[in-house]
Amino acid sequence: MKISKLNDNITPSGTMAISNKARILREQGKPVIGFGAGEPDFPTPAHVIEEVKIASENPTYHKYSAVGGLSILRDEIARTTKKYSNFDVDPNNVVVTNGGKQAILTTFMSLLDAGDEVLIPSPYWTTYPEAVKISGGTPVIVDTEFDNDFKVTIDELEKKFTKKTKVLVWVSPSNPTGVVYTKEEAVEIFNWAFDKNIWVLSDELYEHLVYEGVTSPSPATIDKKLEKTIVVNGVAKAYAMTGWRVGWIIANDDIIGLSKKIQSHATSNVANISQVAAYSALKNGLDSTNEMKKAFDKRRGFALDLLKTINNIKVPNATGAFYVFPDVSHYTKGIIEKVSTSIDLCDWLLEKHYIAFVPGEVFGKGGFLRCSYALSDEDLEEGLTRFKDALDSI
Ligand SMILES: Cc1ncc(COP(=O)(O)O)c(C=O)c1O
Repeated sequence: MKISKLNDNITPSGTMAISNKARILREQGKPVIGFGAGEPDFPTPAHVIEEVKIASENPTYHKYSAVGGLSILRDEIARTTKKYSNFDVDPNNVVVTNGGKQAILTTFMSLLDAGDEVLIPSPYWTTYPEAVKISGGTPVIVDTEFDNDFKVTIDELEKKFTKKTKVLVWVSPSNPTGVVYTKEEAVEIFNWAFDKNIWVLSDELYEHLVYEGVTSPSPATIDKKLEKTIVVNGVAKAYAMTGWRVGWIIANDDIIGLSKKIQSHATSNVANISQVAAYSALKNGLDSTNEMKKAFDKRRGFALDLLKTINNIKVPNATGAFYVFPDVSHYTKGIIEKVSTSIDLCDWLLEKHYIAFVPGEVFGKGGFLRCSYALSDEDLEEGLTRFKDALDSI
């Protein structure tokens, strides 16, 4: 008996693979320090927990609710999007999903037919190509240059554009590089995509985690009627709420209509208690986010400064999210025994030095590794010092 051909075509999340290896070593008592985390190491704000406790006693929330999401939450999403992202949203143009991940998958399912191509600048967040394939589309990877801070250019996009191109994936700040496009750079790319008559799927999960005063606009600030833009966002990263699984899609009536049809069969509605948690987080503003941001910014400075002192390592200036993405290619060319890829290097660092990074291959860019700084100051210092000592001794 055969299962779907999807099995040959999609790969499991690579960020999870390294976490599993690290967990096994930890269980054996090894002093592993993990730089793989894709989530804040802070607790969900206390006021969210308090509101959820009360909501859990409310029988209304024990029942199915509207497929598109609770109206209190959709109203709050519209309000905060206007306030922080600077574009108008009708709450009816919001669908609440099980995290940003489901928002992305549902969006691709709503947009793609077999053979439709999706431009994905690389290095990319590992889920994009897989979500495109699950939705029947074809991911088209657009390679970018380290020397341009991994920002995609119009020339690079033009080379991969075909008659079948239907969507451009946009994410700024970026996972895995932490790089943020300037307003001018972003607007130039948005206008290119709109002129080409393709959709821009804008993943704005990290919009609040920006440093050095940088900001990056949403394409919806230009395409105000959402004729060619779909925005995906959520509470996971900005409010330390990864486990609550609440994200959303903001799009025009057609896409929202189809997304709701899909969701009505896939999940019905997102858990009501989680929706109340997200509502509480948004309603209470960015104070807790800004506290986290301060800590992240300090660690970011520490990580970048230390990485720059390691022999033969280059690292772009990351001004967003909680990742840096150093070039370790010098060490993946056989100068360490049995290490000829960044996957090998990450295995070596984990097995010999008990430090866990995610190899660049997971994000479509061998020769690099992703280093999350969402871990305690002490672990960050200890782990990066181990990293420096390991590489400088070669
Ligand atoms: C760029 C990006 N988009 C979307 C997500 C999905 O976030 P969640 O499903 O936890 O809301 C992540 C999570 O790692 C991410 O890094």
